[in-house]
Amino acid sequence: MTTSTNITWHDSEVTKAQRQQRNRHKSAVIWFTGLSGSGKSTVSAALEKALFEQQVQTYRLDGDNIRHGLNNNLGFSPEDRTENIRRIGEVGKLMVDAGVLTTTAFISPYAADRNVVRDTLAQGEFIEVYTKCSLEGCESRDPKGLYKKARAGEIQGFTGINAPYEAPTNPEIEIDTEALSVDEAVAKIVAYLTKHQYI
Ligand code: ADX
Repeated sequence: MTTSTNITWHDSEVTKAQRQQRNRHKSAVIWFTGLSGSGKSTVSAALEKALFEQQVQTYRLDGDNIRHGLNNNLGFSPEDRTENIRRIGEVGKLMVDAGVLTTTAFISPYAADRNVVRDTLAQGEFIEVYTKCSLEGCESRDPKGLYKKARAGEIQGFTGINAPYEAPTNPEIEIDTEALSVDEAVAKIVAYLTKHQYI
């Protein structure tokens, strides 16, 4: 819902299609979702590097990083998480308009919030990647020591422990990060992008 009034949309003279044509690839949001520690940041960073090396215009938006700046006024209540995802969806849409194959790495625990972003974009511009990893697996990795803190009662509302995670039911790509290496995960996503003629 917009609260701004007296605003007028002004079209650019350069279109998304022209940008994509010059880049020689399509633009889209590759939306990673999964528990903390499931591999979103790691796989998306490796994917970004692989795409960059193939001359693809790419950029990565990462939850922990974005929460240092653009979203530093948001916490982890359900409302704040929804707003976090809404903003990233809007940034993702701008990036797609700019012709960039964008990756996002946010827990994005609510299916409805992810679907809002999907609906914001055109058909085929939202590629949901589920980094599947059991809670036990994420907890044993615990790269930031946050599961330990959550179990000790030092973090309230931690996803998977005392806040929900709604796994995607029909993601474009599922990556079982307990079975695949990072390189294998990247290869699987690149294969999807190639098969569907994004790159
Ligand atoms: S989201 O739920 O709004 O999508 P986001 O991906 O931006 O979350 O941020 C998650 C990161 O914030 C986690 O990887 C972790 O490092 C940190 N974090 C801090 N508190 C929490 C919490 N209560 N629940 C989940 N992650 C948290």
